[in-house]
Amino acid sequence: MGLAVAEWVRSRAEADGRFEEIDFADLAEINLPFMDEPNHPSKRQYTKPHTIAWSERVDAADAFIFVTPEYNHSFSPALKNAFDYLNQEWWRKAVGFVSYGGVAGGSRGVTAFEPAFTTLGLVKTGANVEIPFVSAMVADGVFTPTEKETAILQKVIAELEELSGALKPLR
Ligand SMILES: Cc1cc2nc3c(=O)[nH]c(=O)nc-3n(C[C@H](O)[C@H](O)[C@H](O)COP(=O)(O)O)c2cc1C
Repeated sequence: MGLAVAEWVRSRAEADGRFEEIDFADLAEINLPFMDEPNHPSKRQYTKPHTIAWSERVDAADAFIFVTPEYNHSFSPALKNAFDYLNQEWWRKAVGFVSYGGVAGGSRGVTAFEPAFTTLGLVKTGANVEIPFVSAMVADGVFTPTEKETAILQKVIAELEELSGALKPLR
């Protein structure tokens, strides 16, 4: 489901035009192994090409939108693994979430992830896009949102611009 929802987020972010460049990072395509660096990420002494490439990509960003499901009422292990690879690259940057799932719309996954992303200095938007019963909204790999999801995503994007501007002097 993630790719269908993320393609929608990408198209809205590009259409919005508030950000100069949108980098679309598909964790399935990037295919990071289970975290395999010998040093603590805070040292930034990376040894593997996949870590160096991921570090450069995250470092270049001012703000993030994480598109994520919840698994067993908690965060997505793929997202947590990609997150744990790095440290300083996340510091004092803005993040918004688009979560999806069953009745809870993935919101428990975002809540469970919060101690990790706040520890590494990410600052979350107040608005969250939560998509319940996502499978009913995806057909042939295309996600069709309601007006509610589109309106909230717009708020997330606007907040990201505000927060990323405010956080820039702190980095
Ligand atoms: C191991 C596993 C655990 C899941 N746990 C939850 C859950 O706790 N809450 C929920 O709403 N959906 C849950 N789901 C359903 C997922 O939201 C749904 O499968 C979704 O399509 C997963 O996203 P993905 O297709 O991008 O992997 C779970 C799915 C899997 C595979």
